[in-house]
Amino acid sequence: MYYPDELVEEVREKNDIVDVISGYVRLKKQGNNYFGLCPFHNEKSPSFSVSQNKQMFHCFGCGAGGNVFTFVMQYENYTFPEAIGYLAEKAGVALPEVSYDEEARKKDNRRARILELNKTAAKFYYYMLRSPQGAYGMEYLKNRALREETINRFGLGCSSKYSDELLKYLRKQGYSDELMREAGLVNFDERNGLYDKFWNRVMFPIQDVNHRVIGFGGRVMGDGKPKYLNSPETIVFDKSRNLYGLNHARTSRKNHMILCEGYMDVIAMHQAGFTEAVASLGTAFTSGQASLLKRYAKEVLLTYDSDEAGTKAALRAIPILKEAGLTARIIHLEPYKDPDELIKNQGAEEFQKRIDAAENSFFFEIRVLQKNYRIDDPTSQTEFYRAIAEKLCGFPEELERENYFTAVAREFMIQPDQLRKLVVSYAARMGGIPEAAARPKPTTGKNKQEDAGRTSQKLLLTWLVDEPEVYPIVRRYIQPEDFTVELYRKTAERLYADMERGAPNPAAIISMFTEEEEQREVAELFNTKLTELSGGAERERALQDIIYRVKQASFEYANERSGEGPEALMRSIEKKRELEELRKVHISLKSGSE
Ligand code: GTP
Ligand code: MN
Repeated sequence: MYYPDELVEEVREKNDIVDVISGYVRLKKQGNNYFGLCPFHNEKSPSFSVSQNKQMFHCFGCGAGGNVFTFVMQYENYTFPEAIGYLAEKAGVALPEVSYDEEARKKDNRRARILELNKTAAKFYYYMLRSPQGAYGMEYLKNRALREETINRFGLGCSSKYSDELLKYLRKQGYSDELMREAGLVNFDERNGLYDKFWNRVMFPIQDVNHRVIGFGGRVMGDGKPKYLNSPETIVFDKSRNLYGLNHARTSRKNHMILCEGYMDVIAMHQAGFTEAVASLGTAFTSGQASLLKRYAKEVLLTYDSDEAGTKAALRAIPILKEAGLTARIIHLEPYKDPDELIKNQGAEEFQKRIDAAENSFFFEIRVLQKNYRIDDPTSQTEFYRAIAEKLCGFPEELERENYFTAVAREFMIQPDQLRKLVVSYAARMGGIPEAAARPKPTTGKNKQEDAGRTSQKLLLTWLVDEPEVYPIVRRYIQPEDFTVELYRKTAERLYADMERGAPNPAAIISMFTEEEEQREVAELFNTKLTELSGGAERERALQDIIYRVKQASFEYANERSGEGPEALMRSIEKKRELEELRKVHISLKSGSE
């Protein structure tokens, strides 16, 4: 669903960001900006700033940022088109009827009808649980120590003792058998024909972040098999991209999320005040779920069952979390099996203690590894150390690797020299990181250099937006193609075009991107902290330095990607020469002219 740029811009302009955000956050004027407590993370002193001039917001604490669309998307959890729709209505801007192609409309229709059907079914289960017919379900849930408000909050229900009551009910409501099957609410076989998928179970409606019912989990009351029955995947239920409880957890505003396995665990934790708990949907944790969590937290605490299967599941989840840029820690529950049991037996306070004591995921991995080796056997012990060395080599970041090196040597009482030898020998065999591992030196590495290049690119973009006067100078040396990250390049292209026409419009540039995460990143490009630079000469040197670094990054980027052969070599030499020239130029900010 795409609206023309001009329309998007009109909606944006008619919604002053200070007005809109004031509806959610108490803002105070301070100089040119407004400040308040960030609604996207927990904080006591305000680091959330809104700029009326730039029509952007930015949090120095958690890095949230963007324009008025980003804010609404993030706060209300809207998609970009939804945010546009919402703000258009607020400002009285008429949006055109969206023209779909036939195929897309059919699919959207089907999706909407299944969601509606799910809602109807959830209501059916909900009322069943609260009726005399469902008394056995209510008794079961009460026995599991759930309070009424909790049962209501999660919209819990109960299916009937008979296997065709939902089917009959939905038919009466006018739903087709075909739709019920597509939604996974009824099954079909030759002998029985159509019948309810769920019967004689307490029902857990599974909701997406917008509280829409996308599927169900049903638990048998007692010892029947299977213990849990889950809806199949449908066009509205993608198990790898949703998490149970996230609709509540996403507003818990904690710095971490708690990830567990069971619906009952999520509910027990929420009831005990740990509203940051979510669970995967009866399937293994996926990278899609990890990036979903990344939107709300930096750290994920795992509380998998304390048995072997739980340990395995945790070991699988850790790299997926790390891959998504999240840190992971493990909450230990022993001697209890899962959070539900621990809380029931020991209460919320004890669970909080377990949270505070959560173990770093690396140590957890090593301790699990240790179980494969025998402490009393020197050969086995050396093999264990070798395995640690191998794992240490998995940290691409040198500083982090060194920190873990020191910590692991201390924790497992290994001679640092001995461990270092193993690391070096492993790295040598693998042909990787030998030098870095051999000599602890917390200075440059390839990554650092790359980061420096990126930082300079961000600084340059911020500078351009803050002081458009430098554009004529910058343009002489740096073109949009010089930016090495695609998002930066696109941003630069648009920014340069704006500059050619007059003034930059950073808030409008943000609207070019439809994903919240991209918008946040672009906003960051315009909010990179320029060090307070006082005098003219200092600023000139700083600008020259930034320009040089951007060019250097561009040069290296191009070099890595250029082919071989004499032509590529010539181009490379030419570029290198340009780069050297750049070192010599003198930038004067006073004239600003060409
Ligand atoms: P309770 O006994 O109700 O406390 O269960 P639990 O929450 O402790 O769940 P358990 O650790 O047994 O399982 C965790 C999750 O795995 C559940 O929430 C289900 O999503 C899923 N699960 C458990 N048993 C089954 C099963 O028999 N079939 C399927 N498909 N999924 C199951
Ligand atoms: Mn349990």
